Amino acid sequence: MILKLYNGKEIPIDMYKTRVVQRIRLPKVEERLKAIEEAGYNTFQLKTKDVFLDMLTDSGVNAMSQEQWAGWIATDDAYAGSMTFYKFADIVKEVLGYEYVMNVHQGRAAEHLLAKVFIKPGMIVATNYHFTTTKAHIELAGAECIEIYTDEALKTKSNFLFKGNMDPEKLKTLIKKYGRERIAYVRMEATTNLLGGQPFSMENLKEIKKICDEHKILLVLDGSLVAENAYLIKKREKGYENKTVAQIVKEICSIPDLFYLSGRKNTCVRGGFIATNNKELFEMIQPWLPVYEGFFTYGGMSMREIGAMAEGLREMVEEDVAGCAIEQIKYFVEKLDELGIPVVTPPGGLACHLDAEKFLPHLPKNEYIAGALTAALYIASGIRAMERGTISMDRDKEGKEVFADLELTRIALPRRVFNLSHIEYAIDRILWLYKHRDLIKGLKFVYEPPVLRFFLGKLEAIDNWGRDLCEAFKKDFGEEL
Ligand code: F0G
Repeated sequence: MILKLYNGKEIPIDMYKTRVVQRIRLPKVEERLKAIEEAGYNTFQLKTKDVFLDMLTDSGVNAMSQEQWAGWIATDDAYAGSMTFYKFADIVKEVLGYEYVMNVHQGRAAEHLLAKVFIKPGMIVATNYHFTTTKAHIELAGAECIEIYTDEALKTKSNFLFKGNMDPEKLKTLIKKYGRERIAYVRMEATTNLLGGQPFSMENLKEIKKICDEHKILLVLDGSLVAENAYLIKKREKGYENKTVAQIVKEICSIPDLFYLSGRKNTCVRGGFIATNNKELFEMIQPWLPVYEGFFTYGGMSMREIGAMAEGLREMVEEDVAGCAIEQIKYFVEKLDELGIPVVTPPGGLACHLDAEKFLPHLPKNEYIAGALTAALYIASGIRAMERGTISMDRDKEGKEVFADLELTRIALPRRVFNLSHIEYAIDRILWLYKHRDLIKGLKFVYEPPVLRFFLGKLEAIDNWGRDLCEAFKKDFGEEL
């Protein structure tokens, strides 16, 4: 929630109190340098003992509510026919309006099943923007993933409120070019992760659905951040200001033919599911569930996770839950923007995103700009962020580098985990880093895996710049704490 102060300023206020805590430690800068060198300048490879604020992701690291913990305990453990699953299915109906649901172990498992059932080699999937695992599954199934975003989407500094929109004209052209038979499905992602958590508008989603219907093409919604997209619609789209997030979520869900999500984000628990009101589509996918995931009433999740997810689903559409990370992100982004630090605007969901290309204009694209900035941020602060740029793209079939449209350092805000003191600290260290940006140079691969290379890849700092940054830091801060 946003609270207006006596001095006229606004702050995001936490509508919960903390009753269980996990201690964290701020390693000294020399330790941080050693840790990132050992991690091959890849923050995925750091151990959490070396991390101060873990802002790598908002996935699977959110704080559950006491009601979710109660749901976790009070479950019916059964291989088949568990009543916890049926209770969960009732809540899916109540919150999202879907009649049919199947659980999967996480979001990418849903992507795998959709690719298995709907994609044949040579087909294409059109999307408002890809996500890493989505693209991998589409391509592994032999299809091509084509992005048809609006012209504003790639402008990191923008006032356009719906950078997650799909361009309807480009979709029509694409259908004309390929023919509807070659299009496996159109995929909309609720708050486009790799564009900086940017939402689509309800108007746009409806327009895309109309085009899909005219050509009898399936519309699939990745709703991993559906509650946050709905919250941003409420804040930004005319006609929705007086609707509740719960109503907007239901309206969004009434549009696509198929819906899936990674529950690790909005429902604050590991797992995922596919849901629909179309029995025929459901029955095309369902036989594959026990092959790849698990029996129909658990689908690769534990009953405890399903119990907690049921409660998480109900809570995610509450205003204070849907908006808790978004309001923190807004505060974070606006403060950095005021300081002249290049960030993705308008603020979106899931994270604050630094525009690494503008932050480090002296670096060439083939030296992994966002990877360098992400590693530098860790050295300067102990904050673990995530590279969302060229390292997150795999090479093409010929082995050529595919440069990302955007070079972003994503500083994620898990729900109900960090508070304003952490954000103020992050802002301060980012400002310091910005003043010392000339010290940061590029990276080069020393080990590069063939698929999703950002997870396991190892890199090294060109000219050992990590050491220079560490020395400059010691000059300004001496022994921290
Ligand atoms: N779709 C979107 C939009 C996602 O953000 C993610 C995961 C997935 C699908 C895959 O789901 O991880 O449960 O298998 N995003 C995480 C992130 C990994 O850090 O942004 P998953």
